[in-house]
Amino acid sequence: MPKTLVLYYSATDTTKNVAQVIANILNADIAEIHAKQPYTSADLDWHDPQSRTSIEQHQHNSRVEINDDLPDISNYDNVIIGHPIWWGIPPRLITTVIDKLDLNGKNLASFATSGGSGYERSQSNIERTLRENNYNATINQGAVLNSRRQIETWVKTLNFR
Ligand SMILES: Cc1cc2nc3c(=O)[nH]c(=O)nc-3n(C[C@H](O)[C@H](O)[C@H](O)COP(=O)(O)O)c2cc1C
Repeated sequence: MPKTLVLYYSATDTTKNVAQVIANILNADIAEIHAKQPYTSADLDWHDPQSRTSIEQHQHNSRVEINDDLPDISNYDNVIIGHPIWWGIPPRLITTVIDKLDLNGKNLASFATSGGSGYERSQSNIERTLRENNYNATINQGAVLNSRRQIETWVKTLNFR
């Protein structure tokens, strides 16, 4: 039986809820990504140009440290990464996650929740990180998933075994 892992980061639980629905539909395991320094509500204030997220997201190559608790993915065929959209793209800690996981040979897909932004820039951001790591991975088209219907439609497009 092919195995799927849903790995997500969520600051305010919106992405977490979607990740749980996807894991249920696919009978997948689920794991959460934790920032080494958790984000406070002041950190998440996008109206403040000096907030932590404003600074991190506007720095092109910034990396954000994560806790050393990523699951061992060696036994999974398929990996789905979920994240909110911050300033049009994934939180910088998603880049750290992709750097740290060995994604060679995996079927990879990613999704987001957002306040309205689409997935194009997030897809490009993730594909660039995959290229920078020289991973031999298959990448599916990601999507913003804000409703049950969108989730079910997207899951059907995945090339998962
Ligand atoms: C710092 C920050 C920046 C955000 N930037 C965007 C954005 O560029 N476009 C958008 O549609 N939503 C944006 N949002 C809204 C989030 O993407 C949305 O609320 C998401 O569902 C939050 O997911 P979470 O609860 O899993 O953290 C932003 C939220 C935060 C905190």
